[in-house]
Amino acid sequence: MKSVRILGIETSCDETAVAVVLGEQRGSRLTLVAETNLVSTQIPTHRKHGGVVPEVAAREHATRLPLLLKRLAGTPAKRRALEESIDAIAVTTGPGLVTCLATGTEVARTIASAWRKPLVPIHHLEGHIYANLLSRHTNAPAFLFPVLVLVVSGAHTELVLMKRHLNYQLLGSTRDDAVGEAFDKSAKLLGLPYPGGPELSKLALSGKRDAVAFPRAMLKHDNFDFSFAGLKTAVALEVERHRTSPADVAASFEQAAVDTLIEKTVRAVARYAPKTVALAGGVAANLPLRQALRETIPDRFPNVSVLEPDLQFTTDNAAMIAAAGAVRVLTKKVRSRIVVTPRPELR
Ligand code: KG4
Ligand code: ZN
Repeated sequence: MKSVRILGIETSCDETAVAVVLGEQRGSRLTLVAETNLVSTQIPTHRKHGGVVPEVAAREHATRLPLLLKRLAGTPAKRRALEESIDAIAVTTGPGLVTCLATGTEVARTIASAWRKPLVPIHHLEGHIYANLLSRHTNAPAFLFPVLVLVVSGAHTELVLMKRHLNYQLLGSTRDDAVGEAFDKSAKLLGLPYPGGPELSKLALSGKRDAVAFPRAMLKHDNFDFSFAGLKTAVALEVERHRTSPADVAASFEQAAVDTLIEKTVRAVARYAPKTVALAGGVAANLPLRQALRETIPDRFPNVSVLEPDLQFTTDNAAMIAAAGAVRVLTKKVRSRIVVTPRPELR
């Protein structure tokens, strides 16, 4: 059995986060346990501005990250124990807000050089994907390859096929807005506070899902691409007309978004015959989407299992970054091929 302990750091957007993950490999069996998972959310700060202001976020990371590290290893004894127990430091190097990423990568680089530990650059989406395998149980979830991942975040909407660990084939992506962006923009049109996705979903609970026939874009196209800009515009027009209640607009929007994601995922399963379908990214917290995936896939493809990250690991956190780091260290693939680096020395 091989085991590694990884310190993870995430500062790509509006959550400052540190975590420690223990990764164990027995044969092909991989266990990823989040031993510590600290997240300091900047949502209340950005709510005043109706969205993330990059300069404000960067300043917040610079104050919050040292505080989180202090909570993790604030005394000399705790610091020594952490230094001795970890094998590497994994940090998000992109994609994200460049000024924000810089704080995390600078701090990670400093710790790595002071403690003489390897630095593992992690692509933020790879972190979201490996959040699926994080658990606190011995009965850990596993990827049975090929794995089809539906990546749904604030900045990305993608269908990705993995034939093995850390191997990604992009099947399709959004041509305009990401689905999380559509949730956030539609929520803003409905007068809901930032971040709009969860607020819109809450409002949708009391609405009728078939009140408005919103467009399901790209379904006539025989590909795995998405488009959500038209849906957002349709919401804007509906809100302007004032003839439907905000709850009905929210519920109908959510249904249209979920239907589109599920339909393209079903088509990708039919074409690529994966053994596992996994959900990744902030919008993976959306309950109607989780439920639709859980119901539709096993119903149409009885041999395909569905994985969803535990809710605490869906939005940005450092445990997912440390988890991806653990897989990279365990499989000796420390140079991430899909990484987007803000600083050349991390390449
Ligand atoms: O993963 P994430 O932090 O973004 C990127 O990495 O780009 O995800 C944030 C996105 C936001 O758009 C947020 O509104 C959305 O995830 N989100 C949700 C829910 N929770 C978070 N969208 C719909 N329903 C939710 N429950
Ligand atoms: Zn994210």
